[in-house]
Amino acid sequence: MSKVISIVNIKGGVGKTTISINLSAGISDTGRKILLIDTDPQESATDWVRKRNELNESEITHKNFHFYNNEFKPLKAKETIAALKKDYDLIIFDNPPKDYQTVIRIIANSDFCIIPISTSASDIKSTKQMVDIIQEGKRKKLFNVSPFLLISNKFIGTTVGNQFRQTINIMDIPIMKTEINHRISLLELSYLGKTIFEYEGNSFAADEFRSLAKEVTKWL
Ligand SMILES: Nc1ncnc2c1ncn2[C@@H]1O[C@H](COP(=O)(O)OP(=O)(O)OP(=O)(O)O)[C@@H](O)[C@H]1O
Ligand SMILES: [Mg+2]
Repeated sequence: MSKVISIVNIKGGVGKTTISINLSAGISDTGRKILLIDTDPQESATDWVRKRNELNESEITHKNFHFYNNEFKPLKAKETIAALKKDYDLIIFDNPPKDYQTVIRIIANSDFCIIPISTSASDIKSTKQMVDIIQEGKRKKLFNVSPFLLISNKFIGTTVGNQFRQTINIMDIPIMKTEINHRISLLELSYLGKTIFEYEGNSFAADEFRSLAKEVTKWL
């Protein structure tokens, strides 16, 4: 059955778009038909797709990875998602920071949400607020979503990085086994319109996204 995963955090710059794109690509390689929807008016994912559209056909390797080209209206999320589910095995939403109304509407229509958190102190406070909103929505039966934290943009070999899993364990939701580390190649992708698999398929960054895709595919 078709599922919906939202990548959310009220905090900006935590890696939502990077994760949305490369997770979509990674899962699409299992043969599932994936649709990525950008609800962020900043259009970071859409800009990435615009660059992608300039690539040669031979540079694009993910044949089951599709992008929603229409304007997505959060007020009509329920109907639109129900219609799209007929055509796709999985819909992944890349969401805006700060826009609580959109984020809440998308979470209310999701089966799973992944909350990226990067290893900066300010992320912990904002992410806790995000987690509280989700837990409250679940208590009030507004959401039927399974939330997961995902450690993102982690600096390897730092004390903060090494202790981070323990630091965020105070939030009462599961933390994904896979961690996405800080990698220059991931930073470069937004300029290229490629996925990490197409750009540096043999890199540690690609391995981390393969591992993330595998972990998420087990939910489907
Ligand atoms: N693991 C990583 N390693 C290196 N750079 C990263 C990584 N993850 C994200 N970045 C870079 O950090 C910046 C912010 O990432 P991204 O756009 O994915 O975050 P976001 O949460 O979608 O931001 P926003 O809230 O503004 O939508 C981008 O320049 C991106 O290329
Ligand atoms: Mg973004």
